[in-house]
Amino acid sequence: MSRAAHIVVLPGDGIGAEVAPQAVRVMTRACPEIDLKFEYADVGGVAIDRYGTPLPEATLAAARAADAVLLGAVGGPKWDDLPMTERPEKGLLGLRAGLDLFANLRPAMLFEPLADASSLKTPLVAGLDILIVRELTGGIYFGEPRGVEMGNGGRRGFNTYVYEEREIERIARVAFELARKRAGRLTSVDKANVLEVTQLWREVVSAVAADYPDVELSHMYVDNAGMQLVRAPKQFDVIVTGNMFGDILSDVAAMLTGSLGMLPSASLSAGKQGLYEPVHGTAPDIAGQDLANPLATILSAAMLFRYSLDAPEAAGRIEAAVAAVLDAGLRTADICPEHPPPNVRRVRGSEMADAVIEALDV
Ligand code: NAD
Ligand code: IPM
Ligand code: MN
Repeated sequence: MSRAAHIVVLPGDGIGAEVAPQAVRVMTRACPEIDLKFEYADVGGVAIDRYGTPLPEATLAAARAADAVLLGAVGGPKWDDLPMTERPEKGLLGLRAGLDLFANLRPAMLFEPLADASSLKTPLVAGLDILIVRELTGGIYFGEPRGVEMGNGGRRGFNTYVYEEREIERIARVAFELARKRAGRLTSVDKANVLEVTQLWREVVSAVAADYPDVELSHMYVDNAGMQLVRAPKQFDVIVTGNMFGDILSDVAAMLTGSLGMLPSASLSAGKQGLYEPVHGTAPDIAGQDLANPLATILSAAMLFRYSLDAPEAAGRIEAAVAAVLDAGLRTADICPEHPPPNVRRVRGSEMADAVIEALDV
């Protein structure tokens, strides 16, 4: 073993605490080339219960010092009545802001054996491979002022949708660079027909395009983009959009691939460091039963190897193992037909991870 890497694992709440350890098991077996050191810390509801805050200082410090962070998910009904600033989700938002993870990559790829699990007809999704690049540390999620206050006619709630030019430019550059390495098509999604902030978005993205003559840029309004994603998703290669639109469109894209339980993500800063997490949440409806699909988190671990540890071979091994277990007919409940054909077997989350480990070609 020639090098070491320090990974901070933040399992979080609900099924996060189930799927993150499964992904760690896969990671320890997938990359004999690197001496992986795992350190566990708390974020979200579990951190509120233990320390009274969703993002303890020690967790943020550990994450800052790590080569990469693997996160499960945060939140749940137990903490839903807390004031906005104290909720579990604030822990995740604080990590994203604290580590300056402005670029969120959410690839939606169809594994061919899951075509039937997609909510769209097979010809519409066969071969689907799109990448949503979501701005993650700005926009309406972080804009000030925000709050609920007493107005003349009762309470008023307000948020601020704001982007600075430099924030738009840096996410646009990430998206153009990625599009350049893929099919060379970039769709910027905005609401420039109504919102000034996204008018600026469109202008800045268009200006950056001058540096990428090899990438074909188009613009689309977000309402149309939502419609096009379920009408003809293969028209897209890379989509770049702001924080809130990216949140919504990536859940839509997830269903094209069969399940939210399949969609990984990488949240990157300007350097090598990144936070890797499934796109899904804590799924309170199935938590604690070993029903959750661990593949989104396992595929996030593959992204961790690729983007933060420069270990594409380990990433490739994990992705190939996932494809192999799906080919072999293993399905967690979310991707399993109600009446599975003879070559398909319904498994628990931990069994799925066992099978991925078994299928690793190391
Ligand atoms: P959710 O993603 O947790 O669940 C939506 C639906 O998808 C549920 O029916 C769930 O059972 C299913 N699902 C999700 N992941 C699955 C998996 N791996 N395997 C099988 N089925 C899966 O969204 P929600 O119900 O809107 O939110 C629940 C909680 O999670 C909320 O507190 C929310 O704030 C939080 N949340 C956290 C994150 C995150 O930490 N990144 C993301 C989204 C939601
Ligand atoms: C996601 C989640 C988060 C978001 C929440 C939990 C803060 O929905 O990562 O997609 O809205 O970004
Ligand atoms: Mn979301």
